[in-house]
Amino acid sequence: MKNIAVFASGTGSNAKKIIEYFKNSLLARVALIVCNKPGAGVLEIASNYKVPTLIIEKERFFHDDAYVPQLLEKQISFIVLAGFLWKIPSKLIAAYPEKIINIHPALLPKYGGKGMYGSKVHEAVIAAGELESGISIHFVNEVYDEGRIIFQVSCPVTKEDTPETLAARVHELEHAHFPRIIEELLSESNEFNPA
Ligand code: GRF
Repeated sequence: MKNIAVFASGTGSNAKKIIEYFKNSLLARVALIVCNKPGAGVLEIASNYKVPTLIIEKERFFHDDAYVPQLLEKQISFIVLAGFLWKIPSKLIAAYPEKIINIHPALLPKYGGKGMYGSKVHEAVIAAGELESGISIHFVNEVYDEGRIIFQVSCPVTKEDTPETLAARVHELEHAHFPRIIEELLSESNEFNPA
């Protein structure tokens, strides 16, 4: 059984889908929700599903051990970022090589990078007159949104779209594909011993 940690700081709708998807799985389970925002919606979801949580602080995350010992202690072997906005420090990347993935609500490499999150992404897509947007699931490296792309799927952008309607369409794609892609990655990967 592999232990997944989901890092999320927002409402956590993706975290919820992932928890539910793996609830009866023999392959993996969500063993920890990591959050940097006390009061975030995702914490209520974690408590509803009885998933342990870890609230992290900036200083320790960026300038100390990056919480690696805690993750190892909980035998976390895979990290999923779902609405987590802090940059991942190199200590954590080094401890989990190719074992950290992120979901981005647009078709990377367009509309990614620092500051491109939430409705800002959808506003930019609409302002540019794009005919399609979508989701990108990618490995996390030390540059925002630039790790190797694992999966993308697109959806149309209509003339009537507002950032809210486009966000809703993109969210649906995320919920439909993210848990399944995580499962595929986990079943491909061999037994993993974090450094
Ligand atoms: C998603 O749109 C994801 O692409 C982005 O943050 C959002 C998180 O949404 N990285 P939720 O908290 O899972 O509802």
